[in-house]
Amino acid sequence: MALRLIMPNSFRLPKNFLAPISEYTNSPFRLLCQKHGCNSVIVPLVNATAIARRADAVSELFIDKREKNVGVQLFGSAPSDFKIAAKKITENFPKIKFLDINCGCPMENIIAVGAGASLLNNPKRVCEIISAAKSSGYPVSVKMRLLPTIDKTVDFCKMIEKAGADFIIVHGRKPEQFYSGSADWGAIKKIHEEISLPLVGNGDIKTRAEGESRVSEGFCDSFMIGREAMRNPLCFENRNLQSFDEQKKIFFEYLRIAEKTTCIGITDARQKALFFFRGCKNCASLRAAISQAKTMAQLVSTINKYFYENYNS
Ligand SMILES: Cc1cc2nc3c(=O)[nH]c(=O)nc-3n(C[C@H](O)[C@H](O)[C@H](O)COP(=O)(O)O)c2cc1C
Repeated sequence: MALRLIMPNSFRLPKNFLAPISEYTNSPFRLLCQKHGCNSVIVPLVNATAIARRADAVSELFIDKREKNVGVQLFGSAPSDFKIAAKKITENFPKIKFLDINCGCPMENIIAVGAGASLLNNPKRVCEIISAAKSSGYPVSVKMRLLPTIDKTVDFCKMIEKAGADFIIVHGRKPEQFYSGSADWGAIKKIHEEISLPLVGNGDIKTRAEGESRVSEGFCDSFMIGREAMRNPLCFENRNLQSFDEQKKIFFEYLRIAEKTTCIGITDARQKALFFFRGCKNCASLRAAISQAKTMAQLVSTINKYFYENYNS
């Protein structure tokens, strides 16, 4: 097995990744995770067709210059759109490190346009998409789920390896499972044994230590964390948000980063607060008040008031 850990543009496979989570892993959140041990981030679910066909679509993307080892994930089904989108994105954001092709999203609206997990049934199309994206000169990864059998999954991976993909990210569930059951790490290991592409393992990892064990035990070459990072961006440094104080600190750190980067709205701030504030004293009343905050000022004063009422005696 000859691992190609160094790719075009001298990109070296990062040790860990924050998973792309649409409508959650925005630029300030990605920066927050990177301040706390995350090595690589992916801009989630960018519509290749919209980028290719609408002049202003690329300007809707926001990547902060301090984000490191950034990938942009494209979804779509037409290779010609991927070719144009890859060119536009890499010209507008030359510092990104790779392009990722979404072959795992099980959502109905994505499947309906022949994109995401429906591409698992169309390996020939995926190979065409890979070469279209590779025409940008940037490394290309494929983020996928498992096919119905391990043999079919390995065959799919071998085809994309042959087509020139630079690395592969495997979430160890089938599309129809959505997020139920456990990720099949046995399948991830089998793929790793059968192909020479660098493999990023993904599914149910809760801490950096757990991900590093998967790597040292030969399941994968790097790992990716998604849902745990949504609740606890400190998971990349093996810490967690146990106390209200830690939750408050990380929430205000997020707001400070957001203030200096892109403008986030109250909906985003409430969403992050509801993910971070869990299990604290009288938490139900805090969460109800967070949900009702209509402005950023109201949200901040809700949290400060809660702190004085519950922890300042
Ligand atoms: C709300 C939500 C949104 C997601 N959005 C995307 C996405 O845009 N692109 C993608 O490739 N995967 C997406 N995923 C899947 C994650 O990237 C990841 O593969 C999955 O959550 C498994 O990892 P985990 O067990 O560490 O969460 C999403 C997952 C969730 C829960």
